[in-house]
Order: sequence, then structure tokens, then C-alpha cells
Amino acid sequence: MRSKGIFLLLLLGTLTAYYVYLPIPDEMEERWKLMATDCFFRSLSHLADLSELLGLKDYMEIMMFITFAEEVVTESDEHVRVTVEVFDGVEVVVYEPGQQGGDGELRRAVIYLHGGGWCLGSARMGPYDLLARQMASKLNAVVVSVEYRRAPEHHFPVPFEDVNRVVRHFIQAQVLAQYTVDPGRIAVAGDSAGGNLAAAVAQQLEQDPEQQVALKAQVLLYPVLQALDLNTPSYQQNQDMPILPKTLMVRFWSQYFSRDKALFHAMMANSHNKLESAGLMKYVNWSVLLPESFREPYTYSAPVAETSDLSHKMAAITDPRASPLLAPDSVLRLLPKTYVLTCEYDVLRDDGIMYVTRLQRAGVDVTHQHYATGFHGAMLFTLWPTEFEIGHRMTDNYIHWLKENL
Ligand SMILES: *[C@@H]1O[C@H](CO)[C@@H](O)[C@H](O)[C@H]1NC(C)=O
Repeated sequence: MRSKGIFLLLLLGTLTAYYVYLPIPDEMEERWKLMATDCFFRSLSHLADLSELLGLKDYMEIMMFITFAEEVVTESDEHVRVTVEVFDGVEVVVYEPGQQGGDGELRRAVIYLHGGGWCLGSARMGPYDLLARQMASKLNAVVVSVEYRRAPEHHFPVPFEDVNRVVRHFIQAQVLAQYTVDPGRIAVAGDSAGGNLAAAVAQQLEQDPEQQVALKAQVLLYPVLQALDLNTPSYQQNQDMPILPKTLMVRFWSQYFSRDKALFHAMMANSHNKLESAGLMKYVNWSVLLPESFREPYTYSAPVAETSDLSHKMAAITDPRASPLLAPDSVLRLLPKTYVLTCEYDVLRDDGIMYVTRLQRAGVDVTHQHYATGFHGAMLFTLWPTEFEIGHRMTDNYIHWLKENL
């Protein structure tokens, strides 16, 4: 049913291609499928805009259609036991590998945070369910997929706090024992906005002197890491790229903090920063933090800082729990082994690369895998009819890294 529905929409998308046609770079793989997929997303986005304009439903409520359409019933199969639990008030889906117990051998654990711009997505979406099963069985890991509350109903810091509570609940000695998890082999991982939450929670956890358990690894898959400069070379180069155009990313950012449209417009103009943020600009100064090949042919100009009545909404923007790239080196130094995936055709490319640079300079062991033909969200596209070879490749490489490093 689900597949049929998506297929029909894809077809519809292809047919309407003429009105939203956008050239896709030649080197990208499976271009026609990507164009059709993008068309579907764009059409839905236009529909959502129209709906909001007519006062029917808010933009994000319409965009949630994708999340609902892709939801599956998470149930156990012969390889993986699946249960829905509540960890300190937050719902989680727990995947346990089949070969449990027997010899009581301790297992790895991955706490996984789904993407969707803090506003969309769910642990129960087919691609996330599939990914969790693959991690559980291939890594013999307990996977905790977190159903954190979403914006704009729940603004920052609620999604972060939900994740934080889950992590702290899970790493208690008796809970780890209950799941037969090795306290020395726990990772947090997430894609896109989930990568943002993973990076943020890792920083908070490693700074906490009370915390006995340290993370073994963090995995950030095309993560969102900063809201200070929304005009980096990758934002400029990829503002109309498939799946995540700049307008959508900025919409996600602004709605994470506020429903106020004025914030969205300020962020689109990159003039949303407070004067007091000037001291933080060095952490996102891409003329220093990006390798030359990624910053050419753009010329650096720092984002404009202004005094405005939006200030109270903007205070959160510079909070490292929202923009982990703004944490000082003294915090980065504490972080565990890190895997960062970036894609060339992604507005968020430079967020990831700048974090790689800063982590390396702080002495953290970082593996950076850059996909020269990759697009944002590709790891979600692993199921028919929106199945991309590159999504499978990314998944395999990611799991392989965890196998070696967790
Ligand atoms: C960014 O770095 C360049 C090169 O070092 C420097 O000229 C510029 O002042 C820096 N900008 C900010 C805002 O730190």
C-alpha cells in the first residue's frame, strides 16, 4: 500500500517535472530517479505552502505526510527483537539482536537519532526501521531509536532534552545490565537533525563530571551543526539541490526556535545574529576552516550581526546544544572517536567539514567520509521506489566503520 502510494506520487511528480525542472549536476548518480524524487518533494512543499497561505494547515503539518506515509509497524522478526519502551518519559524503539543471552556475552549499543529537521521524521519510518535492524544484526548491537518530541510544537530545547534524558537513562549500570550492553561500547549516531542532536548530546555528556560512562564513538551523518552562518559556500552552491533546498533548511532552523516568520526571513538574509555573537564567528569562519577546494570560488564575508527585537528568539541560536559547532575547543577535546559523513551536493556539507577540521585540531580521532556525488538524505533512500544505490553504499560504509571502531 505504502509503496504503491509513493510510486503514484513519484509518477505524478515526474509528470509535473516541467514546472519545477531544475538541472541536476551530471556527475550525480541515478539522475532521473533523483529528479523524480525531488519533484515529489518539491510538489509537496508547494502544496504545503499553498495550504498555509489558505489558512488550512501549517506547512509542517502537510510535510508530515511523508513521515506518516513511510511509517511501518515495528515488530520482531527472526533476527531482531523489537520493543517499544519509555525511557525517562520519552518513547524509544529498542532493537535487540537475536543471538542474545546464550553465553551472556556483552553487546554493543547504538543510540540512534532520526533526521527530519527537528520537525519531521520518526523512528518508525521504514528506512529508519530497516537501518536499525541492520545495525542490530550486523553489529550484534542493541539499538535504541529515539522518538523525541518534534518542533514546532516543541521548540528547542525540548527535542534535545528528550534525547539527553534517553541517553542518561540508558547508560545507567542497571539498564545496561538489563540489556546485556558493554558500558565501554556505546555510540550515539544520527543523520541530519539527528546528527545535530547526537553531536550536542555527546558534548553535554562528556562535559558532565558526574557521568561514569563515556561514549566510545559518535557518528554524524550529513549533520546540521550551526545556525550562525547560513550562507556558507555549500549553502550557496546547493541552495536548490534535491531533497533539502536552502529555504527548507532555513525553515527547519527557524521553526526549531520559533514560529515567528520574521526569524525565517532574517535567517534567509543571514542577518539574524546578535551583535554579541561576533566572538563566536571564528568557530564558523569557513575561510579558515574549509580546505581550499571547498571554499573556491567564494569570497568570505562574515554574517551580519544586528540589534533587533528578535533577540530573545535568537539567544538559543548560539547555544551549543543547538549549534554544536560553536562549542569551544576545551569541549571538543573531550569528544570520543568520530565518524562524519558529508555530501558534495548538500547545503550542510560545510557544517560537517568545519566540524571535522575543528575536531582534528582539538586532537579527536576523526574519520571523514565525503561523497563527491552524494546528496542530502541519501541514506534514507534504501527502499523501493525511492531506492538509490548510493544510499546502500553509505549504509554499508557506516556499519563497517562501527564494526571496526565500536
Ligand atoms: C575569518 O578569517 C579571515 C582569515 O583569517 C579573517 O581575515 C577574518 O577576519 C575572519 N573573520 C571572522 C569573523 O573571524
